[in-house]
Amino acid sequence: MRENRENAINLRQKTVPTLKLKPGMKLADNVKNEYGGILVPAGTILNEKFIELLDRHGIKSVTVEKESKEKRSDNIKKIEEIKEKYQEASDESRNLFSKTRQQRKIDTDQLVKMFYKVKDLQEKEGAQQELVNLFSTIQDPDNYLYHHSLDVSILASMFADWLGMKDGDKKQLIMAGLLHDIGKIEVPYDILNKEDALTPGEFAEVKKHAHEGYKIAKECPVLKEKAVQGILTHHQCCDGSGYPLKLQGHNIPLYGRILAIIDVYDAAVSKTVYNDEKPSFKVIKHLSQEQANSFDEELCDIFRENMVGFHSEARVKLDNGKVGRVIYDPPNKPEQKIVETAGKFINLFTSEREIVQVISNN
Ligand SMILES: [Fe+2]
Ligand SMILES: [Fe+2]
Repeated sequence: MRENRENAINLRQKTVPTLKLKPGMKLADNVKNEYGGILVPAGTILNEKFIELLDRHGIKSVTVEKESKEKRSDNIKKIEEIKEKYQEASDESRNLFSKTRQQRKIDTDQLVKMFYKVKDLQEKEGAQQELVNLFSTIQDPDNYLYHHSLDVSILASMFADWLGMKDGDKKQLIMAGLLHDIGKIEVPYDILNKEDALTPGEFAEVKKHAHEGYKIAKECPVLKEKAVQGILTHHQCCDGSGYPLKLQGHNIPLYGRILAIIDVYDAAVSKTVYNDEKPSFKVIKHLSQEQANSFDEELCDIFRENMVGFHSEARVKLDNGKVGRVIYDPPNKPEQKIVETAGKFINLFTSEREIVQVISNN
């Protein structure tokens, strides 16, 4: 029985020398670096950059899925399609906000349609890595709120999978992600898009969006209480700080605790009118330092463990101006990355050096 299964796998896979790899081929197994860290995960559709990376690491051959030439060019098309679909969904996110602003209520059909778009996009084979790259590469401050709402809903969809949520709960979490900042339609445009630091009065106006969002969301018949509560509490911190309530720890509803983490992550990796984007490594490191006070520790660990995989092997710039590659990225300790630069290995944990820019994620 076991032998039959192994034979079946062998029929679907083949070992190919790195020098003979072609863009569009799909990796059947994880490829690991000399430290045991994942260099390129199984399921990755290879492009020129990945092939060059494998070669640079001295990987002589890899296992790929047996696929025809046509299938390989289909794989390349798939990546382009993901980018297009992401852009389309972002435009629809803008429509959802403007229609809610005009009609003073959420259009249920539009919301449900949007939910399916996000779910399909996130569940598309091989899409997740591409989507995580898009969060930080599409820099469009004028449409930040719509991109951000979409990003948070995609990350919410991934989070639901990491937690093994049932379909119905996943749906609610995705919709809460899409609408977590819907209350910002009540914040004056000039305040929302102000480039300079906000005055205390203006910041108080911005903070109202959590409660305003709650008021709009609770009138929407497809949203369950857990989603509505998530929208209300997405700026609540576990130490009791944050707003609009004074809840602490597990008294903050689950969806609120999840949205708080992904909201901060996406805001930090994006370019907004308030700030320039930060390297995703730094953001993940910051999350781990902050987690004791602000975030649910367990959820933050789950987020970090799953997200670091998307950022391994990035090309980075250090604070001394040198460019290098992250060659080791331990899942539980993002701060202990090892960066290779001009043949030297720098352990970020023991050295003074810091990553100041992620040039590319692969
Ligand atoms: Fe918010
Ligand atoms: Fe947000």
